[in-house]
Amino acid sequence: MIGNAVHCAPAQTPASRSAPARPPVPPRLTPYGLRCEHRRTPLGVGEPRPLLSWRLASAQAGDDPVAYELEVGDWSSGRIEDPAAIGAVYGGPPLLPRTRYGWRVTVWARDGAAGSAESWFETGQDVWQASWIAHDPAAVAHMDPPTDGDQALSHHGLLPCPQLRTSFESTAGVTRARLLISAKGLYEARVNGHRVGDAELAPGWTDYRRRIQYQVHDVTPFLLDGENVLAATVADGWWSGFTGFDPRRPGYHYGRFPELIAELHLTFDDGSTRVVATGEGWRTGHGRVRYGDLLKGECHDARAETHGWDLPGFDDSSWRPAVVTGDDHSLLVASRDEPVRALGELLPISTVLVGPGVHLVDFGQNIAGRVRLAVRDQEPGRRVTVRHGETLDGEDRLHTANLRTADATDVLITAGGAEEVFEPRFTYHGFRYAEVSGLDRLDDIRAVVLHSDTPWTGTFDCSDPEVNRLHDNIGWGQRGNFVSVPTDCPQRDERLGWLADAQVFLPTACFNADVSGFFSKWMRDVVDAQSPEGGFSNVAPLLSGVADEGAPGWADAGVLVPWHLYRVYGDDRFLDVDSMARWVDFVARHNPDLIWRHRTGPHFADWLAPGPATPREVLATAFFHRSAALTAEAARVRGLYGEAERLGALADRVRAAFAEAFVGDGGLVEGDTQTGYLLALAFGLLTPEQGRAAAARLATLVEESGPQTGFLGVNLLCPVLSAHGRDDLAHALLRRTDPPSWLYQVRHGATTVWERWDGVGAASMNSFNHYAFGSIGEWLYSGVAGIDQAPGSVAFREVVIRPLPGDLSRASACYESARGLISVSWHNDAEGFRLETRIPPGATATVHLPGGDTRRVTSGDHIFELVRGETA
Ligand code: BGC
Repeated sequence: MIGNAVHCAPAQTPASRSAPARPPVPPRLTPYGLRCEHRRTPLGVGEPRPLLSWRLASAQAGDDPVAYELEVGDWSSGRIEDPAAIGAVYGGPPLLPRTRYGWRVTVWARDGAAGSAESWFETGQDVWQASWIAHDPAAVAHMDPPTDGDQALSHHGLLPCPQLRTSFESTAGVTRARLLISAKGLYEARVNGHRVGDAELAPGWTDYRRRIQYQVHDVTPFLLDGENVLAATVADGWWSGFTGFDPRRPGYHYGRFPELIAELHLTFDDGSTRVVATGEGWRTGHGRVRYGDLLKGECHDARAETHGWDLPGFDDSSWRPAVVTGDDHSLLVASRDEPVRALGELLPISTVLVGPGVHLVDFGQNIAGRVRLAVRDQEPGRRVTVRHGETLDGEDRLHTANLRTADATDVLITAGGAEEVFEPRFTYHGFRYAEVSGLDRLDDIRAVVLHSDTPWTGTFDCSDPEVNRLHDNIGWGQRGNFVSVPTDCPQRDERLGWLADAQVFLPTACFNADVSGFFSKWMRDVVDAQSPEGGFSNVAPLLSGVADEGAPGWADAGVLVPWHLYRVYGDDRFLDVDSMARWVDFVARHNPDLIWRHRTGPHFADWLAPGPATPREVLATAFFHRSAALTAEAARVRGLYGEAERLGALADRVRAAFAEAFVGDGGLVEGDTQTGYLLALAFGLLTPEQGRAAAARLATLVEESGPQTGFLGVNLLCPVLSAHGRDDLAHALLRRTDPPSWLYQVRHGATTVWERWDGVGAASMNSFNHYAFGSIGEWLYSGVAGIDQAPGSVAFREVVIRPLPGDLSRASACYESARGLISVSWHNDAEGFRLETRIPPGATATVHLPGGDTRRVTSGDHIFELVRGETA
């Protein structure tokens, strides 16, 4: 019945590169979507035994796998009987560095039919020989004064972005050239005038005191016979720029000035090799980028362009020798994630002249990114300024008070000429509006959307356009805040990897996109930030001035995030039981009576809850139990049975302590708040009888005042209500338009999800792109459309299809799960209820139809019809 199957349009995103490319469904069982370490054909894999994984498709119902074989180079796993497998770790001889390995997976169906698919990956670097180099730090401040002494060309101590170059002779016959490169700061590399790769803000943000990611780029087509030039511009980035909400002191967070490290590995057709590396002999100078800072913005003086600096033949004798700053390679690690990329462009929906030479441009969508501007026929030295804002003030002027000290202002000084294109390279802003001053007319302007490249996996659509807009807003919030790390917001001077925000939003994020690589990298940041005593932090990567013992619900992300990633992607290596257990033991050690009271760091409570405050010990102890229980589960999965038993017993004792201290007669949870009930119900802290009473009390509170949760309860609201038979109320919340509510934001023009339910608050704490309240997105897929997995299931092996129509007339969702495509489409009207669903090979599903009928189905396409007044 494939012909009738649910239509899965590519995700509605301008990030078309991220949209899933859906091949036609093959007639028989076939693997597709091959990944190595959660990435498609990665260059520079650092894992000695990488995970190779695949999805499955078949047009035939019940065409399930029984076995697979992996072949990597000359190694074969042999046929492995495993009907659940969608991936396996490479088990052959040690992999050689900087080597391409082709690999193939073959899967067999029960009747012996085999399907296979091929892919490749390349390994990373083992031993580095390059040195770190920089523009002479002592000379930096005194070099190249702004061309006309203009103050706007320097900015509170921000310095011009150094350009570094070397030239070398090569012969023809280069068969393969790989550039391995990183920076303390940001880099943009060039080979013979060609921009290398399409990564933005590389090498990305980590705690550079512990780990610095490098990238590998294929530059083979750029090599020349004769003189060649390898060059890079570096900028401060998170390393030495303004980062977080601390004012910068050079060297305060990480470093004082940017540094570069690179090795170009050449292989010739006679088999010989050669390495060109950063070190002695490199030259540095400055060009058009007078400063580039993530928060402050970027300034280009196009008159200072050093034409041809990245090409052979350039005379760099007036440049300085680069300074070698060190040879320590111990912190360099291969990237685990796809980089930030420019993944879409938006044209203005309106441009208004608001003053002499001042245009206000509305891109119609709040994004993270920057503006690209073409300037035509201008005289040299004209200053064009681009300011950014998420909203307008009461007088239709750019509202920038909520950016705090993030100036988010880019400046171009024109060189003059027929056309100049200006696009900053080392900054990004959170904005919908841009105010451009200094031009009488705007010839060509567009917004460039930047975010970490996480392939989009989910689509959702229903009969209420406002709910669809909410879904889109949630997706935009995800794009704008997944910029190398999961941030709280992209606009103000914060943009930190707050752990609770990530934890509550993760289930939504996992439906929207394949975030396995992104979070694999970030979980390293989280573990890097863990204190020697076991305390997880509030933000990761850690940066000085913000290091505290993490707050309840924040630090617990160190357990909740890996657990959810394991369940969604089936990769048990996410479960770093040691670090999880160290956290649980840390809390237990400081709270011997098992009520989590002890705090050395801040307590954020149920952050931004509009309603009555949930008692802090209630929140904290609920999360303590959750972390202990999930760590016990994780230990069981990893075969650490003693640890599982120990932590399971601890979780039981915390549960008992919680019940004793906080659960009263009739299931009353201390504080009588929505979040208190939500946590107690979702984390299994109540007896069934107490649970029924608590769910009823929760429903009453929700009926009385709408949603009253902050960040720590919002993700649970609709799932818990519907799990306790109140999907009517969950739907009422979803469709509610009075504040506080999701659709209130939509009705008031939101194009992302706001930090505060009603968008009202002190300007300094009022972001219009914060995704925590967007964590309802999970329930759009799992509740409204009805795609979920059974409690013990991993990687959607046991799918649950349970649509909750409410009073919607239709909904559909497609989800490219780790196992393969799951889709649902249902219609509900006076005639009856009709459901189409697709279940991937290797999975089974339980389909819960409205009215209580339940069906077990195999993989394949299925259609169910309930005619009103009859059963299916
Ligand atoms: C951030 C939040 C974060 C919180 C901690 C805020 O400034 O924007 O998203 O989780 O601090 O309470």
